[in-house]
Amino acid sequence: MPDSLLAERLCKVTGYSKVFFGNSGAEANEGAIKIARKYGKEVKGDHCNRIITLENSFHGRTITTLSATGQDIFHQHFFPFTEGFLYVPANYSYALHEAMDDTVCAVMLELVQGESGVNVLEKEYVKEAERVCREKGILLIVDEVQTGVGRTGTFLCCEHYEVCPNVITLAKGLGAGLPIGAILMDKLTENILQTGDHGSTFGGNPVVCAGALEVLNQIANADFLAAVNSKSDYMREKLSALPHVTNVSGMGLMFGMTLEKDIKAGKITEKCVENGLLILTAKEKLRIMPPLNISKEEIDTGFNILRKCLSGALS
Ligand SMILES: Cc1ncc(COP(=O)(O)O)c(C=O)c1O
Repeated sequence: MPDSLLAERLCKVTGYSKVFFGNSGAEANEGAIKIARKYGKEVKGDHCNRIITLENSFHGRTITTLSATGQDIFHQHFFPFTEGFLYVPANYSYALHEAMDDTVCAVMLELVQGESGVNVLEKEYVKEAERVCREKGILLIVDEVQTGVGRTGTFLCCEHYEVCPNVITLAKGLGAGLPIGAILMDKLTENILQTGDHGSTFGGNPVVCAGALEVLNQIANADFLAAVNSKSDYMREKLSALPHVTNVSGMGLMFGMTLEKDIKAGKITEKCVENGLLILTAKEKLRIMPPLNISKEEIDTGFNILRKCLSGALS
């Protein structure tokens, strides 16, 4: 069956021991939150159900994952939201320590905050978060819905940080266009959800799992990832030299471009789309997430369109 083959392959590639398949990133994060809350209750009691996430994070568009998202702009409608999330500023270990009382069952991090500007978390901060979580018996969840499956030049972004979260969520790139989400669980968390605690009618369906298996065949190898890294270096150098660009953030093939303050990212993306290049915004930045198998020629073509749109930005 494709689902068991995919589960086996994902565990082999990542070193995790169990995986649950759903249909999207938000659904994977919902499952991770359920694991954390059940763990908190079983290990520490009913009061242990709060989850710390970061300011400027993004974790999905269901009511609970909107709650987990640390941005006020996502908390304007759809009341009442799910309770029990605490937001702390990124890269500030003191604030994290302060928030970690005995009501906290998990810390959930997005290592590169994609939606809010492709902001890369500092390695020291993430390692410290892992250390304190272990010390206090709090789960570490990493949302790799956007960063996972080769996007940052390693199969998991966690590899750059040298951390092993208890739970990792994947989606986007795993499906390469087909709807799949996955929750990877380590030895500590693999048996928390029991039969009936979680499920999904279409989760693990054969078509999507067969597609994801092929994705792993292509991406989970050293040559493919080395090519991602070399394209990353090539693009970063070119993007940094573009007119009106003051900074390029990101990792692998995930870029955020800060523009001079008179240049509106939304206007640039509109112009790019008119000229045949699909790019995104992330807050006030331009966000570029090319397919991982993009060729150097395609990069150059896109780059010329982007340069033309940026050059004409003030005219
Ligand atoms: C970090 C992160 N988490 C979760 C999600 C939600 O994923 P989905 O749209 O598949 O529900 C996204 C989507 O942009 C994301 O970037």
